[in-house]
Amino acid sequence: MAVESGTWEGVDLASLASREGTPLYVYSAPAIRSRVGALRQALAGLQAGIRYAVKANGNGAILRLLAEEGAGADIVSGGELRRALRAGIAAANIVFSGVGKTEEEIVFALEVGIGRFNVESRAELDTLQRIAAARGKVAVAAVRINPDVDAQTHAKISTGRAENKFGVSIEEARSWFSSKAAWPQVRLDGLHMHIGSQLLSLAPVREALARMAAFWRELSAAGHAIASIDVGGGLGVRYRDGEQAPDAAEYAQAIREALQGFDGKVLVEPGRWLVAEAGLLLSRVVLVKPGQSRRFLVLDAAMNDLLRPSLYEAWHDIVRVGGAVGREEQAYDVVGPVCETGDTFAKARLLPRCEAGDLVAILGAGAYGASMASTYNSRPLVAEVLLERGRHAVVRKRQTFDAMIAEECPVTEWIPACAT
Ligand code: LLP
Repeated sequence: MAVESGTWEGVDLASLASREGTPLYVYSAPAIRSRVGALRQALAGLQAGIRYAVKANGNGAILRLLAEEGAGADIVSGGELRRALRAGIAAANIVFSGVGKTEEEIVFALEVGIGRFNVESRAELDTLQRIAAARGKVAVAAVRINPDVDAQTHAKISTGRAENKFGVSIEEARSWFSSKAAWPQVRLDGLHMHIGSQLLSLAPVREALARMAAFWRELSAAGHAIASIDVGGGLGVRYRDGEQAPDAAEYAQAIREALQGFDGKVLVEPGRWLVAEAGLLLSRVVLVKPGQSRRFLVLDAAMNDLLRPSLYEAWHDIVRVGGAVGREEQAYDVVGPVCETGDTFAKARLLPRCEAGDLVAILGAGAYGASMASTYNSRPLVAEVLLERGRHAVVRKRQTFDAMIAEECPVTEWIPACAT
């Protein structure tokens, strides 16, 4: 693979690291474009719209790139809505998911005219009605169904079981449609689901789609027009050799089969599939520490930069960048400098022998990497660059120490408790 030999998209990674510093998120523009193209091609024949899940990677340059490719957005907060609009994504191509939308966020989304609210509770439906009525607007909405299927993924990113906080049961959704008149300012004409993330098997997707499709048919027969069916995101990617991930064509075929005869809009909300493999985290080896029982490779990147291994025990392939030829392999526990044992990227990972100063790349870091980063241990957020045919552009500057603490302030005044 090119990264091991030291280049990616025609860019020499060692020079890039010297110029921009490490840790550094590196994204490939062509890789993202080709994923969008592949998905679009797979969905051909359907009236499909891609609503990229901004949470996977909300960097403005990536959002602009996706907007140029015609993608809309799936957002879950006012902040993500602002990001999407700022990147030039039309409000009409934005859907708003999430179990705890605040009134402020709903007002904002309604004012800018977003395409659709994916409603997750009766209380939210009531709020939407009240806010839309007060403004003389009609909110377009879909009900998020919780189909109660096991997505066969990590428990922390599984969302489609009855015990999860997301969506409502089909019985509950049925009652919303039969009393639609109670929410006159809400146009409830869509169905939505999202059963989980990093789905490697399509079987649960097929099962959930079948339940949603049966419900759509039942609603249509009862005279409820359904204009849009949003099948959510979740399509998994190959994080390690030998892992089998479904391809876009198979996924699209599952959608096509389930929704046969549906002539409305079909929305998909992929996040990870579009950007995960288009990103890596470039990091420098600080030192090699022969521990009492294990050999540690201590990087300058840490769990605050890429949380997935600590949070989900997620596997990310790690490669030594350049100059590996002729080096014997050694097993390393690859760790960061943060003061927690959980700050571990990999255990007993075989890598060509490494020394202080070497570069390693943590692959598959384009999704839920930078977007989940924090400044834990007072480590400023790292820089991000985008690669394009032998060139790179900085798309997020490295945070300075001053910027990291800019919103903190010393006590200058004690404000007395307000009388109510
Ligand atoms: N739509 C909804 C309503 C979602 O909640 C999500 C992800 C997506 C779409 C996009 O899912 P994707 O296609 O990326 O699988 N931080 C975790 C992933 C959390 C996903 C949350 N929801 C991770 O690093 O694995």
